[in-house]
Amino acid sequence: MFEIIARQELAQGTVVANDIMAPKIAAKARPGQFIILRVNETGERIPLTMADTDPERGTITIIYQVVGKTTAMMARLGAGDTIMDIAGPLGRPTPIEKKGTIICVGGGTGVAVLHPITRGFKQAGNKVIAIIGARNQELLIMEDKMAKASDELLVCTDDGSYGHHGFVTDVLREQLQKLGDEVKEAVCIGPVPMMKFCAKVTEEFKVPTMASLNAIMVDGTGMCGCCRVSVGGQTKFACVDGPEFDAHQVDFEELSRRLTAYIPQEKEAMDLFQHKCSCEA
Ligand SMILES: Cc1cc2nc3c(=O)[nH]c(=O)nc-3n(C[C@H](O)[C@H](O)[C@H](O)COP(=O)(O)OP(=O)(O)OC[C@H]3O[C@@H](n4cnc5c(N)ncnc54)[C@H](O)[C@@H]3O)c2cc1C
Ligand code: FES
Repeated sequence: MFEIIARQELAQGTVVANDIMAPKIAAKARPGQFIILRVNETGERIPLTMADTDPERGTITIIYQVVGKTTAMMARLGAGDTIMDIAGPLGRPTPIEKKGTIICVGGGTGVAVLHPITRGFKQAGNKVIAIIGARNQELLIMEDKMAKASDELLVCTDDGSYGHHGFVTDVLREQLQKLGDEVKEAVCIGPVPMMKFCAKVTEEFKVPTMASLNAIMVDGTGMCGCCRVSVGGQTKFACVDGPEFDAHQVDFEELSRRLTAYIPQEKEAMDLFQHKCSCEA
């Protein structure tokens, strides 16, 4: 059992942050790695990235968007409640080296995944420009933490309610035009269409780019094949070969299709959960 020691609501309550006591995972985790958790013994296994770790306190922080049954169940838990199983750290850590100028681009809850990677690149001595975006100001998360983790933070909202009016790809293009060869690498993490269009922009400027793929996962150990993705025409397992891959080689269309494979079952599970909650109320 893993105890939740703090709960915070971000972004109009649609995004929740939990600090969870997990000393062994906190001690080993590296930027880019994730956990797979099961809330209770009948629960589904879901992957979530560690947005932060505190090895001294023995905690990991997860930040998740409430999108379906498991995240809705988790959002009802508070400090003192427990999560039944957590496996991790899983996946390959982000390869972080000193390279020069790095641009880190995050959209929606992808910003939570991007945070430790941004901080890792800065700690390694790179100049880090972070670009984060959301549909509107209320949905923007982790602005203060991303400001600390980077040398320069640029913020955008789709509706112009805060920061640059437009998409992260517009600001990414401006920065690449301004900085030219100075930019040695880009990292983009967020919804699949956002990563796909970021990759198109950086490809024009020939900037190597990583994307963190949110494929559907079950075991997280390379055994079930559920998380397979196509990268450069080869089949890879996001859980053990990734989750980060060369964004210019990823087949984003296939990833989008595979993410929709269980929509009827996900909807049914959420409807049953909401019905049960309304009966209990
Ligand atoms: C390596 C990795 C790291 C992730 N990190 C984060 C994070 O830090 N914060 C965050 O908000 N989300 C993250 N996700 C996505 C998160 O796992 C899904 O939002 C979650 O599983 C939804 O579960 P649900 O039961 O609430 O919703 P459901 O209704 O079951 O699903 C909603 C959508 O979530 C995705 N999904 C469902 N089940 C899984 C599964 N077992 N594995 C992967 N995706 C699934 C599908 O796209 C689905 O359409 C990550 C995914 C991966 C692969
Ligand atoms: S989740 Fe089963 S192989 Fe990756």
